[in-house]
Amino acid sequence: MTAQPRKISVPSTLSNITNPWSPKLIASVNATHDVKVAKLRGSFIWHSHENTDELFYIISGSLKMRFRDESGETQLLDDVVLEKGDMLVVPKGVRHCPVVEDEEEAEIMMVELRGTVNTGDADGNEALALRKEAEDVRVQV
Ligand code: NI
Repeated sequence: MTAQPRKISVPSTLSNITNPWSPKLIASVNATHDVKVAKLRGSFIWHSHENTDELFYIISGSLKMRFRDESGETQLLDDVVLEKGDMLVVPKGVRHCPVVEDEEEAEIMMVELRGTVNTGDADGNEALALRKEAEDVRVQV
């Protein structure tokens, strides 16, 4: 028997989030891609994802996506400033760092391959502290 499709409220999911950079899993598509939401404050860590593009959709606030080359020293691509309603796909393998400036907060939705780690290939203590498995907040029946 087909399972009953269940809706999920994105605003109420976001309203339950207190910690920045702590993604919540809200949907899975074709068992291959995850849809997550998160609140962001301040700067994340430089990283890339070898195997997946990463789609960002801005629900509220403003987010700057910074780009650097593999060495981390050279800016090869322009930063992209995203405002509410904007969407951006960060291609796989492209080193990036999301930043929310001025002590503001941004709310975002992400779509990426299942199992994607938020800190990508970043290592070290800072990456370890920021590395978060997305909490599954889908309604369990
Ligand atoms: Ni990323």
